[in-house]
Amino acid sequence: MEEITSQKTHVLVLPSPAQGHINPIVQFSKTLASKEVKVTILTIDFVCKAMLLDCGPLINIESIPHETIPVEGVDNFLEWFQTLMLEKFSGIVEKFGDSEYPVKVVVIDSLITWIIDLAHELGLKVAAFHTQPVALSALYYHIDQEDSTNKIPFDGSVPVSLPSLPLLEKEDLPSFICETDAYPTVKKLVFGQNFNFKKADWLLFNTFDMLEEEVINWLRTQYSIKTIGPVVLSMYLDKEYDSSLTKPHYETCKKWLDSREIGSVIYVSFGSLASLDEKQMEELALGLIMSNSYFLWVVRGTEENKLPNEFMSKVSEKGLIVNWSPQLDVLAHKSVGCFFTHCGWNSTLEALSLGVPMVCMPQWADQPTNAKFITDIWQVGIRIKVGKDGVITREEIASSIKEVMVEKKGVMLKENAIKWKNLAKEAVDKGGSSDKNIKEFVQACNALN
Ligand code: UDX
Repeated sequence: MEEITSQKTHVLVLPSPAQGHINPIVQFSKTLASKEVKVTILTIDFVCKAMLLDCGPLINIESIPHETIPVEGVDNFLEWFQTLMLEKFSGIVEKFGDSEYPVKVVVIDSLITWIIDLAHELGLKVAAFHTQPVALSALYYHIDQEDSTNKIPFDGSVPVSLPSLPLLEKEDLPSFICETDAYPTVKKLVFGQNFNFKKADWLLFNTFDMLEEEVINWLRTQYSIKTIGPVVLSMYLDKEYDSSLTKPHYETCKKWLDSREIGSVIYVSFGSLASLDEKQMEELALGLIMSNSYFLWVVRGTEENKLPNEFMSKVSEKGLIVNWSPQLDVLAHKSVGCFFTHCGWNSTLEALSLGVPMVCMPQWADQPTNAKFITDIWQVGIRIKVGKDGVITREEIASSIKEVMVEKKGVMLKENAIKWKNLAKEAVDKGGSSDKNIKEFVQACNALN
């Protein structure tokens, strides 16, 4: 336990119901609980049942019961989730109001902006927890400012130049900017995050000061933002803790990795949502074989049928396929030499925090921008080249892997990765920038009692 003595401030935490959002906010909850804050995670029954283990004795889970879920499409699901939370939120806050520990603060995932006004009406303070980098929030902020006057062409027709951000080509922009009709509800929620700047009482980011120094300093001239990451570090240190919605293959991965040489394995994962088409799956599968390296590839159950027969007959010689891995343990394993990644923000922070160089194959959302930072700013990875027909060839995949695993460039990337690993640890260690910000947040919460 930390030295902060609290009066058991009660914080209600609202995650978005997706793996990439649940992991960091649950971990942050755990950090708050370790500082004697009473934490209740409020989510829907579907997430509670899928989560493998409880969050330990310090964290309560309040589950919202429901009958059916409209499973047809992400947009319908999110609209349903929004309505249900809005209906139930006041009742739950009022229920705690009669208890020994009334709720004082609500920590929302930054996409859940639609609860802010209601929370304020109920007398609560709101902290918006961002599961994306500050660079993305700054970018969306600029779009909000510039939209009406159209001063900056965000259609990717020319590179975008904005204060404190690198020059962004079309391929570096988040998918929501260029794509107009894909996932309209998701897009609305993503751009809606600017509402947090106007209304939330705290703006928390899962990042650290040194990592995004320039853009953080710039945004701080406009808003008071607090960096509190990478939250993943304490998650990794506590092995008993997991918030996976799918059971990871611990033993299989460990046994297989234990029998490989140091730095000889490529870990391949596209997170919890991204889906490659059949042609791209084939190129990736055959590119991995062509690279002649050992590989551990997470292919989710829904993607398995896309694996080509030609690959299936060869995979056991060099590779292991699992539906879900214990990713932190895998990245921390000495046999892993490279992470072939879609550049989700959690995966990016996890690789940085554990010192693993990356091959970037971004898919959508914030991933293209994350890839830009990974390659050009932090210089811990290379970006794979997309062919004219939109397909990344097996040759390109194999040669990119070799560049990181075998060639001289890989040595430089590894050195940089270790540098960032040390800086990440400094940020979360006692007295580090993120540690200080978390303490300040807890003190401000406690002062509400
Ligand atoms: C999404 C977005 O891609 C991301 O950019 C955004 O900021 C948050 O939501 P997702 O696509 O799932 O998330 O990727 P990522 O952010 O990398 O999160 C995946 C999480 O699942 C990571 O914490 C990773 O460790 C975990 N994971 C992934 C496993 O535990 N096992 C696996 O096999 C694969």
